Amino acid sequence: MTTQRRILAFSLSLASVFGTVELLKTKETQTYTCRTFGSGIVQPFQGESYYVRSDCPFTLTSFNVNQGEYSVTIRRGHNGLLVQVEIVLNNVTTLLQDGHVVVKNKSVSDPCDQKYQHIFKYGIYTRLKSSLLPFSVTWHNVHGRINSLWVTLEYTI
Ligand SMILES: *[C@@H]1O[C@H](CO)[C@@H](O)[C@H](O)[C@H]1NC(C)=O
Ligand SMILES: *[C@@H]1O[C@H](CO)[C@@H](O)[C@H](O)[C@H]1NC(C)=O
Repeated sequence: MTTQRRILAFSLSLASVFGTVELLKTKETQTYTCRTFGSGIVQPFQGESYYVRSDCPFTLTSFNVNQGEYSVTIRRGHNGLLVQVEIVLNNVTTLLQDGHVVVKNKSVSDPCDQKYQHIFKYGIYTRLKSSLLPFSVTWHNVHGRINSLWVTLEYTI
């Protein structure tokens, strides 16, 4: 091997090492899920599940990123199903009520693409996904009420 060839071979092996590291890095994505179903079961992002039977508004998650507000607030009816869900993604409010999806006070049908969020069918579920953050809310409608809803947040190291 000439010196030049040796350097080339060495660079190629380094490239393959770094290539592998890059691949491993992208795999270090954690998905955190917070779920609610039944008449009041809540599985938080971390920790044990618990049961709250209440018809008061209840905030599942709330945080700010780059001055944008993000939150998910649910309200149960007397039979325990969700009668209203308010989702705020980067200050844009989406309301789920009576089987309808209302974005910024306007009723929309799914699929629906807006500037920073998309609403689409996901099997028997409907999903609202932010295009700014790996954040999504997925729900299941039963006669205008929601019996299952979960929020996912991906975090890449
Ligand atoms: C969101 O609303 C807050 C308070 O009204 C405001 O200060 C902030 O600039 C808004 N952020 C975005 C991304 O629109
Ligand atoms: C939506 O409607 C409510 C009352 O009907 C009003 O207070 C609020 O300002 C409206 N929001 C937007 C973004 O138009």
